[in-house]
Amino acid sequence: MNVIEPKVIHDFQDVIRGSEVNTSVKLYQDAKGFYRTESALADDTLMYEVYHYTQGDDKRAGNLNWGLTVLYPVLVNGECNMTRGHWHENRKCVEFYFCIAGEGLLMLMDEDGTTWAEKTYPGSLHHIDGHLAHRLINTGEEPMKIGACWPCDAGHDYAAVERQPFGYRVYKEEGTLRFEKVED
Ligand code: PA5
Ligand code: NI
Repeated sequence: MNVIEPKVIHDFQDVIRGSEVNTSVKLYQDAKGFYRTESALADDTLMYEVYHYTQGDDKRAGNLNWGLTVLYPVLVNGECNMTRGHWHENRKCVEFYFCIAGEGLLMLMDEDGTTWAEKTYPGSLHHIDGHLAHRLINTGEEPMKIGACWPCDAGHDYAAVERQPFGYRVYKEEGTLRFEKVED
């Protein structure tokens, strides 16, 4: 029997490494529109990184993606750093998130706009129904690392959250979280 090395290492103290791992970065200049106000942060401030890995046809139903998001502890005029947020294009596709490091919130929104959040901290596991939009928010003082596993044919529907934004914004002011309701 031939025994080979794994193609990819997900080092939970670090990131996902391997020649077939895709990496993308989100800088402040690409994320300005997520926040209520613009800040004086440098355009090249690193907001988050996404690592993702699959094998074979990356659109085949039944195939899976494995991923990691590293969301840095940045405030934008007091508003906590967050991912863009999305529904899956294919609303039948669920996703698992799990927290490896840091602390924050997984904001969820149903198709009626009802918005709530689950706390994330190391060890927390989150099942995200395909009918829920999802966004990560770092409310802590260190990089928040969230692992994920989702179907390759899920797709990301960002346009729908632009038409129907999440119902709350999250601020951290003098160490205290404040939730601001977004008026329609
Ligand atoms: O597939 C996912 O849900 C994640 O890998 C996200 O894409 C990642 O957290 C970045 O968020 P967004 O795609 O909303 O910018
Ligand atoms: Ni998703």
